[in-house]
Parts: sequence; C-alpha cells; structure tokens
Amino acid sequence: MTNALDRFSLKDRVAVVTGGAGILGSLYCLRLAEAGAQVVAADIDAGRCDKLASEITTSTGIEAVGLSVDLSNEASVKAWAKRILDKYGHVDVLVNNAATKSPGFFAPLDKFKVEDWNRVMAVNVTGIFLAVRELGPSMAERGKGSIVNISSIYGVAAPDQRIYEGSWYEELGGAINTPLIYSATKVAVIAMTKYLAAYWGAKGVRTNTLTPGGVSSGQNSVFAEKYSARVPMGRMALPEEMAGALLFLASDASSYVNGQNIIVDGGLTAW
Ligand SMILES: NC(=O)c1ccc[n+]([C@@H]2O[C@H](COP(=O)([O-])OP(=O)(O)OC[C@H]3O[C@@H](n4cnc5c(N)ncnc54)[C@H](O)[C@@H]3O)[C@@H](O)[C@H]2O)c1
Repeated sequence: MTNALDRFSLKDRVAVVTGGAGILGSLYCLRLAEAGAQVVAADIDAGRCDKLASEITTSTGIEAVGLSVDLSNEASVKAWAKRILDKYGHVDVLVNNAATKSPGFFAPLDKFKVEDWNRVMAVNVTGIFLAVRELGPSMAERGKGSIVNISSIYGVAAPDQRIYEGSWYEELGGAINTPLIYSATKVAVIAMTKYLAAYWGAKGVRTNTLTPGGVSSGQNSVFAEKYSARVPMGRMALPEEMAGALLFLASDASSYVNGQNIIVDGGLTAW
C-alpha cells in the first residue's frame, strides 16, 4: 500500500534534464534529485553542469552527474546518449528543457536573420528530436518512462507586443523581444508531445508538455509591471512554481496523463 506522496517519489529513477544548467533546468535537477532521482544535468555549458551536479550530490547524498552535450549536433547527442545508457542502462525521465537565444535573437522581425532562425530551430526542435530518438527507444523497450517537453506560453498564445516597449534584461543588457522563431519552436514542442504520446503510449512511455509563463529572472521593472498587468494573478512566476508540475509529470503521480499540456502561467492564457 502506498500513500499519496509515494506516487511522487523518484527513488532509484534516472532523470535526464537538458538545459540542466539554466535558470529553470538547474532547479528541475535539484528538485528531481530531492524526490530521489539520479539526475543527469545535461547542457552545452560543461562547467556549469559539472558544478551543479556536484552541488546536488552534496546536498542530496544521491549522485548527480553533469554530462555536456550540444543538442544541435547529431554526433554529440549520439555520444551523450550512449554515455548515459552505458552508465545507467536506462532512463526513466527525460526533460527536454534546453532552448537557445542565438546571437541575433532579440532582433525585430524585419531584421531577423535566417542564421538565427536556423540556430534556434536546431536546438529547440531538432534537439528534442535527437534526444528522444536516442533515448526514447530504450524507454519503450523497457515499457516505462516519462518524457516532459518544455514549451512556453508563446507556443500557446501570441506575445502582446505592447509589453516590450522600454523592457530590458538587466544582465543581458538588451531589449526584450520574443521572436517569431521562439513561438514557432514552442508550438512545435506541443505537437511533438502529442505525436510521441500516441507513438509510445502503448509501450508505457508517457509524453507531456509543461508550459511555463514568464518567470522573473532579470527583466527590468518596466517589463515586470507590463507583463504582470496581463496576468490574472498580477505577477510573474518564480522558478520554484514550475517544479511542482514537473515532479507531477515525471512521477507515477501522473501515471494516466499522456499527451497533455500543463500550463503554469498564473492564468495568463485563461482570458
Ligand atoms: N524563463 C522563462 O520565463 C520561461 C518561460 C516560458 C518557457 N521557458 C522555457 O523553459 C526552458 C528553460 O528556460 P530558462 O529560462 O531556464 O533558460 P536558460 O537560458 O536559463 O536555460 C537554457 C539552457 O539550455 C542550454 N542550451 C542552449 N543551447 C544548448 C545546446 N545546443 N545544447 C545543450 N544545451 C543548450 C543553455 O546553456 C542553458 O543553460 C526553455 O525551454 C524556455 O523556452 C522559460
């Protein structure tokens, strides 16, 4: 007999998080490890994922590892997946969280370069294809697994262009804009989720989307105020507020949830 919280346990599960060194990815890695998982923090930034893995190992007592990968590079993804499967034998949870901001990411549509378009597509969409191609079949063979694809509210609804005037990232030092390619890749994530849910559902592999709303992470007060005014709850999200939905989708607590999109946006897309 198990209790309600047991269903959220990831004890002895292997969880891989792409973009694991990022703002949300690093928190996902920590929370998955706290739920009992052996975490693989995977990111193009090897130094940051190694550091994170060692911090998680120290704080949870469960070994986490950092494994760098360039998701836009087929050979890199193949070698990375092989290292994971050689080490653990299988993967229970795959969180496709990585996304890139290419050099010209914030350019307006009339100046947006094809190189930037292709770069974002290569990471945000092709990267998910490669990761699931390399790791999904072993889940299907084992008859068990949870894939969580990270989309965005801008894969569900259009960005309101009025919020960008006077909006800046303090750290990146640039004007905030959500380019067309971001929406295109994030709606593709939702479509890939549905496809994979139907493709591997009968094999016991569930695939779902987690769609975060805007998370407070270095945007200036002009942006925060204009964005928050559009949200029924009147504020941006904290990174922590994404982790509960992730644990639900990753664990047996969601054992009959497949092909769905959990939108964690304070109600932004409700009106
Ligand atoms: N932060 C938000 O407000 C927000 C809102 C909605 C959706 N999201 C989504 O959540 C996810 C995480 O967002 P974040 O804010 O933590 O972003 P982030 O930029 O902090 O993290 C993304 C990570 O992906 C990694 N990455 C980039 N290119 C890569 C590649 N080729 N191979 C491997 N790793 C690569 C980066 O190094 C980075 O660590 C993204 O998919 C994003 O679209 C974020």
